[in-house]
Amino acid sequence: MVSESVRTEIEKRRTFAIISHPDAGKTTLTEKFLLYGGAIQTAGSVKGKASDRHAVSDWMDLEKQRGISITSSVLQFSYEGYCINILDTPGHQDFSEDTYRTLMAADSAVMVIDAAKGIEPQTRKLFRVCAMRGIPIFTFINKLDREARDPFDLLDELEKEFGIGTYPMNWPIGCGRDFKGVYDREKRCILAFDNFHAGRRRLEAIRCELDETEKLDELIGSTMRERLTEQVELLDVASFEFDLDQVRRGKLSPVFFGSALNNFGIEPFLESFLRMTSHPLAHRAGDQTVEPFDDSFSAFVFKIQANMNKAHRDRIAFLRICSGMFERGREYYHVQGGKAIKLSQPQQMMAQEREGVERAYAGDIIGVFDPGIFSIGDTVCDTGERICYDGIPTFAPEHFAEVEQVDSMKRKQFAKGMQQIAQEGAIQIFFLPGTGMERVIVGVVGLLQYDVLEHRMKTEYGVQYRKHDLPHQIIRRIAECPVAPADLRLAEDTRLVEDARGRKLLIFPGEWSVRWALEKNPGLALKDFTDM
Ligand code: G4P
Repeated sequence: MVSESVRTEIEKRRTFAIISHPDAGKTTLTEKFLLYGGAIQTAGSVKGKASDRHAVSDWMDLEKQRGISITSSVLQFSYEGYCINILDTPGHQDFSEDTYRTLMAADSAVMVIDAAKGIEPQTRKLFRVCAMRGIPIFTFINKLDREARDPFDLLDELEKEFGIGTYPMNWPIGCGRDFKGVYDREKRCILAFDNFHAGRRRLEAIRCELDETEKLDELIGSTMRERLTEQVELLDVASFEFDLDQVRRGKLSPVFFGSALNNFGIEPFLESFLRMTSHPLAHRAGDQTVEPFDDSFSAFVFKIQANMNKAHRDRIAFLRICSGMFERGREYYHVQGGKAIKLSQPQQMMAQEREGVERAYAGDIIGVFDPGIFSIGDTVCDTGERICYDGIPTFAPEHFAEVEQVDSMKRKQFAKGMQQIAQEGAIQIFFLPGTGMERVIVGVVGLLQYDVLEHRMKTEYGVQYRKHDLPHQIIRRIAECPVAPADLRLAEDTRLVEDARGRKLLIFPGEWSVRWALEKNPGLALKDFTDM
């Protein structure tokens, strides 16, 4: 067990990711969290032009840095005695496998939903990864200051689509121009919304019981009061019971309504969130469970990023610390490399700012210089007590392209570049049976990864190539095959490929061709790509 002081540090840690569809308000919410934590002085709460607004976490200027620093970052700040690590999950065009991998390093997730839109495609994809890990998911339904969908409808959608229970912690009173605030179900009081929330840090909740008719009428009007009373009664009988254990197992999502832009409902959210989440979770390593308070240090690599700083042409491996304490200068053991190593230039990220780090604790994320030895999922631990984490699943690519080298003089560079970039996890490569490295299929989760590949192949390896986009969208592993895979009866647009380990896979343009393959080949069994 760690010492008392290290234990206290670990207990303070809360490491979470914010997931949302672009524009739901993730950046605005992150910014407000940072504001509460005192990590930044001014928030974009006084809304400027879109071009003026530049949140700290949103530091990737895609146009300027395309292909150079497309990544997710980590923000650390303190709030009310907690040490909070927010993992930023890239969205928009830079949505990639990194976005999924970041969730592997989080102990819980905050899901931001636009109240007018409900669940959107990216929320759906990210939710699935969180659900796969069984981490707690807290829902923040944002933009109540605008016209919104019926809150019961929104909850219903979450429950039906995601198969989880929801527990509204507060309840909105109107929306848009008629937004009057929220009713706090636990404290049984009203937090009133006025137009002057922007920039104000603390709001006094107006205590008001539902049967204090006159006071309520004054605050929100009699029609709203009647509706609220009815809705709260309905919630009390019809909604799920609150059960912290279910929350912690990711089966019940506490739901909060508010408006990030107006700084409304953020503080109560943050407080409840911190209260309901636990210190860093234990991790599986084979048949062992590693507790964060175990004395020996252990961590896994969840992201590798090349050329974060143009001037240095460096490569950084991001490690999630799972147990114990990291100390600069100490010798550690890289399990997959089978070697003792010094983790050089350890740093923590404050968006663009990197700070050297002397010590870090379970729950924290550190970035270390990678001389090209790490792969995604690798374990680093104490030299004495060795463990090996289960690794990170490879997520199914959603786009495929055939990439072919054009200059036979550069065959080696082409192969090296492709392999290294795949090893970092920026792309996945597949092979066409019978062909070598001169022509490969490149699979990606987000299209921007192709731009990253092209840019890096050109600048780092001096290679240009020909790329042909494929219509395929689905990839499945062949689990059982009644004949030799090359003899399978497949639709014309289905292709057989192999991964680097020689495992056979099929890529399909759509669900119907998956069905076709299964119907025409009795005995063929296909597995999801993520199931190893
Ligand atoms: P994202 O990171 O999830 O992509 O979303 P982001 O925070 O950038 O927010 C997207 C837009 O929604 C922003 O508008 C932001 O100001 C706005 N927004 C966020 N929270 C709220 C809220 O509670 N209420 C309202 N009304 N708006 C909110 P923008 O980029 O400045 O420009 P525009 O889209 O308004 O032109």
